[in-house]
Amino acid sequence: MKKIVIFIALLLPFLYLLWSVQSANDPIKYIFTCTGQSAIVILMISLSLAPIKKIINLLKYRRMIGLFACFYALLHFLNFYILDAQLDFSFVVKETLDKPFVYLGMISFVILFFMALTSTKKLFAKFNKWHKLVYVVLVLVVIHASMAQKVLSSLEYSFIFIAIILLGYRSFLLRQKFLQK
Ligand code: HEM
Repeated sequence: MKKIVIFIALLLPFLYLLWSVQSANDPIKYIFTCTGQSAIVILMISLSLAPIKKIINLLKYRRMIGLFACFYALLHFLNFYILDAQLDFSFVVKETLDKPFVYLGMISFVILFFMALTSTKKLFAKFNKWHKLVYVVLVLVVIHASMAQKVLSSLEYSFIFIAIILLGYRSFLLRQKFLQK
């Protein structure tokens, strides 16, 4: 029951995007915003499950939540490749190499996609160490989202603030582990 409620909640930004995109002035920019913000928020939710587990334990849904973050990042990438670049691969390569914020996004997407592919039980056992790269993704996407703006708004400041808390929690755990050795 809980799983289906979380699944529907995670699908809501996509349904909202389908419903609202026709009325957008600049649909490509609108899709970038909706999919990018959904991906980053859901990624942050997936990373918040460990710190809040004593209040509410949703850790068993972490894989599904992480896969949704990757799903929105994939839509974000497809918007770039299909609608923005019009399937012109050389444009994608040029933009990626020319604009630092685009290659930060690309690196993040490649890592997220790799994590999604290796998130099955069997592959996770083999690749779980690599999944710690999610913290690199967190840093890169926050920089990416901030660099995409001319002026930072309270949303980007919130992303930066939440990322610092999540990284702080992670380094606290690492320190404790180190002290116990
Ligand atoms: C696949 C590689 C990626 C490419 C090519 C890419 C490209 C872009 C572009 C061109 C923009 C600017 C859109 C505009 O305002 O005109 C943008 C913004 C953004 N991207 Fe990405 N991105 C990528 C990966 C990611 C990932 C993995 C995330 C999050 C997990 C992400 C989150 C965001 C966010 C939050 C924004 C700001 C949206 C806004 O507030 O308007 N991007 N991206």
